[in-house]
Amino acid sequence: MKIVLSGIKPTGIPTLGNYLGALKNFVKLQNEMKEDEFFIFVADLHALTVPQDPKELRSHIRNLCALYLAVGLNPENLTLFIQSEVKEHVELGYLMQSLVYMGELERMTQYKDKKQKQVEGVSSALFTYPALMAADILLYDATYVPVGRDQMQHLELARTLAERFNHRFGDTFIVPQGIEPKQGTKITDLQNPTKKMDKSAENDKGCIYLLEDLNKIKKKIKSAVTDLDGCIRFDKENKPGISNLMTIYAAMSGMEIKEIESKYQGCGYKEFKEDVANIVVQEIEGIQKKYQEWIHSPQLDELLDQGREKAQHVACKKMEVIRQKMGYGR
Ligand code: TYM
Repeated sequence: MKIVLSGIKPTGIPTLGNYLGALKNFVKLQNEMKEDEFFIFVADLHALTVPQDPKELRSHIRNLCALYLAVGLNPENLTLFIQSEVKEHVELGYLMQSLVYMGELERMTQYKDKKQKQVEGVSSALFTYPALMAADILLYDATYVPVGRDQMQHLELARTLAERFNHRFGDTFIVPQGIEPKQGTKITDLQNPTKKMDKSAENDKGCIYLLEDLNKIKKKIKSAVTDLDGCIRFDKENKPGISNLMTIYAAMSGMEIKEIESKYQGCGYKEFKEDVANIVVQEIEGIQKKYQEWIHSPQLDELLDQGREKAQHVACKKMEVIRQKMGYGR
């Protein structure tokens, strides 16, 4: 049996980027890999790498739990939990810090980008964050880790740390494999299509949130930045805006980019944007309906309690082995 594991940081309302790069892919994998175990968690400790409003953080954690279920993850085949409720993440995170080199952390592009944006008060947790992410993965012996492109570098580091640990202390960890979605691994900002669509974007006109008003979503898509060429053709370099919309359409519909190009040959951007808006809104509308059911359901807490128990059990057993191998403690 294989283990599939992934998580999302509750730093805001998840975006269309999170949906297409991660959530939709979790559901697809769950449908394809019926025999395997799924661990999906809310990475709340990771949210603390940048300042958070405590009240908002609490509500984002709960929203994300409900969203995981609203997108279609099957609760019967899922261990759903909140990272901070399983203390072993912090312990193994520290051990991973003892294995990772400063130079390796300094090379992480996400750290470099964030540091550039936030000149003052960059926390040391932002720097060591990939060590905690490696712990999240290795603690459960995850085989597959579905993530979007921006997390692949962190995943590579988790692989390196698993191999380093195994080499120093003997075989202990599974070396995990990252799984990117076929389409949608990097959705870009609708107003600034060379930049990643991000929950914490300064200008929210370019970012679609899964829980926002459907008319607002339509408007945002219709006013997405494109180009003057007028031709629906995929060219990331020269036509990043239209290429991003095509990627969104492909990821939503399951169509290939080539098929979309022929379908829309001779059509204008207005018509294409209208279709992209409709396909996105239709899917998000369904998610929002289910979200409303889950967020008010007592079953959500029951699932989180069960998830915590199960995750704690697995993590606790794994930590005993790790302590033994590393030789700390009694
Ligand atoms: P986070 O919360 O930044 O993003 C969650 C997931 O969404 C993907 N994603 C995107 N995919 C496509 N286009 C985008 N614009 C876009 N923006 C985000 C991310 O690649 C990710 O898959 N460190 C992680 C959370 C984490 C984790 C883990 C993931 C903590 N521990 C262990 C996997 C395994 C993070 O901050 O993701």
